[in-house]
Amino acid sequence: MELPPPQDASRPYSLAVVCLGNICRSPTAQVVLERRLTEAGLADAVRVTSAGTGDWHVGEPMDRRAASALRGAGYDPSRHRAQQVDPSWFERYDVLLVMDASNRADVRALALCDEDRERVAMFRAWDPKGGPDVDVPDPWYGDADGFADVLEMVERTAAELVEALGERVRGGWS
Ligand code: 4NP
Repeated sequence: MELPPPQDASRPYSLAVVCLGNICRSPTAQVVLERRLTEAGLADAVRVTSAGTGDWHVGEPMDRRAASALRGAGYDPSRHRAQQVDPSWFERYDVLLVMDASNRADVRALALCDEDRERVAMFRAWDPKGGPDVDVPDPWYGDADGFADVLEMVERTAAELVEALGERVRGGWS
Protein backbone atom coordinates (compact mmCIF):
# COMPACT_ATOMS: atom_id res chain seq x y z
CA MET A 1 0.00 0.00 0.00
CA GLU A 2 1.42 3.37 -1.06
CA LEU A 3 0.81 6.47 1.03
CA PRO A 4 -0.87 9.22 -1.01
CA PRO A 5 1.47 12.19 -1.62
CA PRO A 6 0.99 15.42 0.36
CA GLN A 7 -1.54 17.90 -1.02
CA ASP A 8 0.26 20.93 0.39
CA ALA A 9 4.04 20.96 0.82
CA SER A 10 3.85 23.94 3.21
CA ARG A 11 2.21 21.96 5.99
CA PRO A 12 3.08 18.72 7.81
CA TYR A 13 1.90 15.50 6.18
CA SER A 14 -1.61 15.14 7.59
CA LEU A 15 -3.04 11.79 8.57
CA ALA A 16 -6.51 11.06 9.98
CA VAL A 17 -7.54 7.76 11.55
CA VAL A 18 -11.28 7.06 11.39
CA CYS A 19 -13.57 4.54 13.10
CA LEU A 20 -17.26 4.53 14.01
CA GLY A 21 -17.45 6.29 17.39
CA ASN A 22 -13.95 7.83 17.79
CA ILE A 23 -13.76 6.60 21.37
CA CYS A 24 -12.08 3.18 20.99
CA ARG A 25 -10.07 2.19 17.90
CA SER A 26 -9.09 5.41 16.11
CA PRO A 27 -8.06 7.35 19.25
CA THR A 28 -6.00 4.32 20.31
CA ALA A 29 -4.25 4.48 16.94
CA GLN A 30 -3.76 8.25 17.25
CA VAL A 31 -2.10 7.98 20.67
CA VAL A 32 0.18 5.13 19.56
CA LEU A 33 1.11 6.85 16.28
CA GLU A 34 1.90 10.13 18.06
CA ARG A 35 4.31 8.33 20.39
CA ARG A 36 5.99 6.43 17.55
CA LEU A 37 6.29 9.54 15.38
CA THR A 38 7.93 11.42 18.25
CA GLU A 39 10.34 8.54 18.86
CA ALA A 40 11.18 8.51 15.12
CA GLY A 41 11.86 12.28 15.09
CA LEU A 42 8.85 12.86 12.82
CA ALA A 43 6.60 14.81 15.20
CA ASP A 44 7.02 18.05 13.24
CA ALA A 45 6.77 16.43 9.80
CA VAL A 46 3.60 14.37 10.32
CA ARG A 47 0.47 15.29 12.25
CA VAL A 48 -2.21 12.83 13.27
CA THR A 49 -5.80 13.22 14.32
CA SER A 50 -8.77 10.87 14.61
CA ALA A 51 -12.52 10.98 14.10
CA GLY A 52 -15.67 8.89 13.98
CA THR A 53 -18.14 8.54 11.15
CA GLY A 54 -20.92 8.87 13.77
CA ASP A 55 -21.70 11.84 16.01
CA TRP A 56 -22.94 10.04 19.15
CA HIS A 57 -19.80 10.62 21.21
CA VAL A 58 -18.57 14.01 19.91
CA GLY A 59 -16.77 15.88 22.71
CA GLU A 60 -16.41 12.80 24.92
CA PRO A 61 -13.13 11.31 26.16
CA MET A 62 -11.99 7.84 25.21
CA ASP A 63 -13.99 4.76 26.22
CA ARG A 64 -12.67 3.76 29.65
CA ARG A 65 -11.77 0.25 28.47
CA ALA A 66 -9.68 1.64 25.59
CA ALA A 67 -8.08 4.21 27.92
CA SER A 68 -7.27 1.49 30.45
CA ALA A 69 -5.58 -0.72 27.82
CA LEU A 70 -3.49 2.27 26.71
CA ARG A 71 -2.54 3.26 30.26
CA GLY A 72 -1.54 -0.34 30.98
CA ALA A 73 0.94 -0.11 28.11
CA GLY A 74 2.34 3.24 29.29
CA TYR A 75 0.44 5.65 27.03
CA ASP A 76 -1.52 8.76 28.06
CA PRO A 77 -5.11 8.61 26.72
CA SER A 78 -6.33 11.66 28.67
CA ARG A 79 -6.21 14.38 26.00
CA HIS A 80 -8.65 12.78 23.57
CA ARG A 81 -12.03 14.33 22.75
CA ALA A 82 -14.16 12.67 20.08
CA GLN A 83 -14.91 14.43 16.81
CA GLN A 84 -16.78 13.54 13.62
CA VAL A 85 -15.35 13.36 10.10
CA ASP A 86 -16.97 15.54 7.41
CA PRO A 87 -16.24 16.29 3.72
CA SER A 88 -13.80 19.13 4.61
CA TRP A 89 -11.44 16.48 5.95
CA PHE A 90 -10.47 15.55 2.38
CA GLU A 91 -8.80 18.97 2.07
CA ARG A 92 -7.43 19.00 5.59
CA TYR A 93 -5.87 15.50 5.53
CA ASP A 94 -3.65 13.76 2.99
CA VAL A 95 -4.74 10.25 3.93
CA LEU A 96 -7.74 8.91 5.84
CA LEU A 97 -7.01 5.51 7.41
CA VAL A 98 -10.16 3.61 8.33
CA MET A 99 -10.52 0.81 10.84
CA ASP A 100 -12.98 -1.43 8.98
CA ALA A 101 -14.78 -1.93 5.69
CA SER A 102 -17.93 -0.27 6.98
CA ASN A 103 -15.96 2.86 7.97
CA ARG A 104 -14.35 2.79 4.52
CA ALA A 105 -17.73 2.79 2.77
CA ASP A 106 -18.99 5.61 5.01
CA VAL A 107 -15.91 7.80 4.53
CA ARG A 108 -15.77 7.22 0.77
CA ALA A 109 -19.42 8.24 0.58
CA LEU A 110 -18.39 11.70 1.90
CA ALA A 111 -15.89 12.21 -0.95
CA LEU A 112 -16.80 14.45 -3.90
CA CYS A 113 -14.33 12.99 -6.42
CA ASP A 114 -12.35 9.83 -7.21
CA GLU A 115 -9.07 11.48 -6.20
CA ASP A 116 -10.43 11.98 -2.69
CA ARG A 117 -11.89 8.47 -2.55
CA GLU A 118 -8.40 7.11 -3.33
CA ARG A 119 -7.04 8.85 -0.22
CA VAL A 120 -9.09 6.47 1.94
CA ALA A 121 -7.23 3.28 2.91
CA MET A 122 -7.55 0.57 5.50
CA PHE A 123 -5.29 1.13 8.55
CA ARG A 124 -4.29 -2.56 8.59
CA ALA A 125 -2.98 -2.33 5.03
CA TRP A 126 0.29 -1.54 6.87
CA ASP A 127 -0.03 -4.46 9.32
CA PRO A 128 2.40 -7.27 8.41
CA LYS A 129 -0.35 -9.66 9.59
CA GLY A 130 -3.14 -7.63 7.94
CA GLY A 131 -3.83 -6.53 4.39
CA PRO A 132 -5.67 -3.95 2.29
CA ASP A 133 -9.09 -5.36 3.23
CA VAL A 134 -8.49 -6.48 6.81
CA ASP A 135 -10.50 -4.88 9.65
CA VAL A 136 -9.54 -3.81 13.14
CA PRO A 137 -12.59 -5.47 14.74
CA ASP A 138 -14.96 -3.22 16.69
CA PRO A 139 -14.31 -3.98 20.42
CA TRP A 140 -17.32 -1.97 21.69
CA TYR A 141 -19.62 -4.93 22.44
CA GLY A 142 -16.87 -7.26 23.67
CA ASP A 143 -14.70 -7.60 26.77
CA ALA A 144 -11.22 -6.39 27.79
CA ASP A 145 -9.55 -9.02 25.59
CA GLY A 146 -10.95 -7.27 22.51
CA PHE A 147 -9.31 -4.01 23.59
CA ALA A 148 -5.97 -5.76 24.21
CA ASP A 149 -6.22 -7.29 20.71
CA VAL A 150 -6.93 -3.87 19.18
CA LEU A 151 -3.89 -2.36 20.93
CA GLU A 152 -1.66 -5.20 19.71
CA MET A 153 -2.82 -4.73 16.09
CA VAL A 154 -2.44 -0.97 16.38
CA GLU A 155 1.10 -1.15 17.79
CA ARG A 156 2.20 -3.60 15.09
CA THR A 157 0.64 -1.51 12.33
CA ALA A 158 1.91 1.81 13.70
CA ALA A 159 5.51 0.54 13.64
CA GLU A 160 5.28 -0.23 9.90
CA LEU A 161 3.33 2.90 9.10
CA VAL A 162 5.84 5.18 10.83
CA GLU A 163 8.65 3.42 9.00
CA ALA A 164 6.86 4.07 5.67
CA LEU A 165 6.21 7.70 6.64
CA GLY A 166 9.86 8.19 7.56
CA GLU A 167 11.00 6.84 4.20
CA ARG A 168 8.66 9.19 2.34
CA VAL A 169 9.30 12.27 4.45
CA ARG A 170 13.07 11.83 4.32
CA GLY A 171 13.41 10.20 0.89
CA GLY A 172 10.76 12.07 -1.09
CA TRP A 173 7.36 11.21 -2.50
CA SER A 174 8.13 10.49 -6.17
P1 4NP B 1 -15.01 2.79 17.89
O1 4NP B 1 -16.02 1.88 18.79
O2 4NP B 1 -15.67 2.93 16.54
O3 4NP B 1 -13.78 1.95 17.83
O4 4NP B 1 -14.84 4.09 18.63
C1 4NP B 1 -17.37 2.19 18.96
C2 4NP B 1 -17.73 3.21 19.80
C3 4NP B 1 -19.06 3.49 20.00
C4 4NP B 1 -20.03 2.75 19.35
C5 4NP B 1 -19.66 1.72 18.49
C6 4NP B 1 -18.32 1.45 18.29
N1 4NP B 1 -21.40 3.02 19.57
O5 4NP B 1 -22.25 2.27 19.05
O6 4NP B 1 -21.73 4.02 20.26
